[in-house]
Amino acid sequence: MCSRKFFVGGNWKCNGTVDEVKKICCMLNNGEVPCPNHIETIISPPFVFIPLVKSMLRTDFQVAAQNCWKGKGGAFTGEISAEMLANLHVPWVILGHSERRQLCGETDAIVAEKTAYALDNGLKVCLCVGETLEERERNETGAVVARQTAAVASKICCWANVVIAYEPIWAIGTGKVATPQQAQEVHYNLRKWLDCYVSPHVAMNMRIIYGGSVTAANCKEIGANPDVDGFLVGGASLKEDFIAILNARN
Ligand code: G3P
Repeated sequence: MCSRKFFVGGNWKCNGTVDEVKKICCMLNNGEVPCPNHIETIISPPFVFIPLVKSMLRTDFQVAAQNCWKGKGGAFTGEISAEMLANLHVPWVILGHSERRQLCGETDAIVAEKTAYALDNGLKVCLCVGETLEERERNETGAVVARQTAAVASKICCWANVVIAYEPIWAIGTGKVATPQQAQEVHYNLRKWLDCYVSPHVAMNMRIIYGGSVTAANCKEIGANPDVDGFLVGGASLKEDFIAILNARN
């Protein structure tokens, strides 16, 4: 039985003020959470709050960016480069989030380019994949997730620095969480895809986490599945619920 370390990310998205960020950091710093031997936790604030969060956050949590540019910095107004994140000692970056794919036109190719560049610059990547409701209703979930993963797979040199977050788009921010069976099925099939097209070692060691309306109420049942290795949490990561989600395996 492989022992993949439980992984939970808090994706704050485009939320927060200085005072709210300070309050959330205090809540996180005072939370009773499993020891770092049993869980890896990343907190992903908006770019502008990264220095403040880094200065306040407990040392057993890591900071993540929510995106980065696809190459070297330069004349790319508004972008943040992987080099800048590395220079700030930000170890993680979330890439391919469905909100960036849908709202910012990030294609599989762009996500792959960003992932490769981030990894090449020493960042660790939480790669998001997931289908729309229409794709699920057409029974295309497995094909969509495989396609999105395959696009990145050809560019990845070091899989040890990658976590994959399955986030069904129809569950993000909707309160319509995937059932434990739905999550387990997609994670199992994605792990089988990795086993077949990358390597058995990568498949066995890859943390595949679930995101989409995760709460304190549903995290234990979803997290009890053998191929669910943690969560990527949006709304609930801004609240006390997040501490309960970190303890989902206790
Ligand atoms: O990246 C995590 C996010 O997409 C999930 O959002 O609010 O449904 O937990 P939420």
